[in-house]
Amino acid sequence: MFAETTQTDWNRAAGDMIKRMEQTAAVLGEAFPHWADGQSGAWTTTPDGDWTGGAWPGMLWLAHRMTGEEKFRQLARTWCVRLRPRAKLETAFKGFGFYCGAALGHILAGDETGKTVALEAVESLRDQFDPRLGLIPLGSDAEEHGEIGKAFSSIDSLQAAPLLFWAARRTGDDSYRACAASHTTRVLEIHCRKDGSIIQSSELDSRDGSVVRHFTHKGFSDTSVWGRAQAWGMLYSAMAFARCPAETRWLDQSMAAADWWIANVPGDLVAFWDFNDPAIPDTHRDTAATAIVSAALLKLAELAPTAAQRSRYREAAERTVSALIGGYLTPTSSTDRRTRGMLVGGCFNKRPDSRRHDSALNAELIFGSYFLFESLQVLCGVVDAADI
Ligand code: GLY
Repeated sequence: MFAETTQTDWNRAAGDMIKRMEQTAAVLGEAFPHWADGQSGAWTTTPDGDWTGGAWPGMLWLAHRMTGEEKFRQLARTWCVRLRPRAKLETAFKGFGFYCGAALGHILAGDETGKTVALEAVESLRDQFDPRLGLIPLGSDAEEHGEIGKAFSSIDSLQAAPLLFWAARRTGDDSYRACAASHTTRVLEIHCRKDGSIIQSSELDSRDGSVVRHFTHKGFSDTSVWGRAQAWGMLYSAMAFARCPAETRWLDQSMAAADWWIANVPGDLVAFWDFNDPAIPDTHRDTAATAIVSAALLKLAELAPTAAQRSRYREAAERTVSALIGGYLTPTSSTDRRTRGMLVGGCFNKRPDSRRHDSALNAELIFGSYFLFESLQVLCGVVDAADI
């Protein structure tokens, strides 16, 4: 089926996801979608958006760009403004939500509300930077079950970089760029293994930033390769390089992570939640990690230095998106009452120490849906992968 996936298939899948978005918008009230039950489609929500909530206005900004429909812009703005209570929280994980949910509105639609909300959040994100560590630590409000604060880091925190680079361009204030560059370099140094695989988390010595230990917040073990660690590292190192093309080591790290993924992902191209879970194949997949990787591969398909590499990443991206829409975008039968366009098969957190509202398997994760939808917009020619 891979070779036969066409522009019509990408468009159909994007259309199905828009139907799911319309259904979601109708049932939410004022709470943000976090994840939905893979069988019923019912959403578990958070009142303020948690770290995931910006994915929802992010999808709406993209839907506005794709369709030109004003209703999506209005919805995106409404949900973007609802992110504001989180703007000053001390968490490196503000980067994802305020980039997708707010800055993206300015990037895609020139939206001034999006710009204002993103700038509200990014100032305090920059002020979290610790020069002794050379990075932005997770922070006391970081959305993990524990082991957070001023001396902890993780590859997930690389999400701070695109928002900071965007702010540097918008404001002309170089301190945002310097902070993003140092954060990117140090987070990659700490968490990238020599073979291209990626470690999720670290505890640092608060006096000089040296590594006290590596561990994981959400993976199988402290030495395993959690799928989303690999995915976040690949994505955000590519995004940082796109904004700072002199930093070729970031591109090298993203390509090493991509090559590791391509060599280790199962034959059907959808990753298990952790590459080292000994229960494989009798364990859970994570379509969210796989969707993040699709978006990352599409960026590498524009950024890699040689034509052969760009075409290899493009083919890997197309095959990966085909696998997701062929196997995990609902529904399949006429008796199925679920809405079309749910990306099921997401593994939010499988560990017993999960935050209660992250304990979800075989689910639709709002950020997984975001990255599949973003990938489809790239494949449909609506947006350029390296611009967002
Ligand atoms: N902390 C980001 C994630 O759970 O993927």
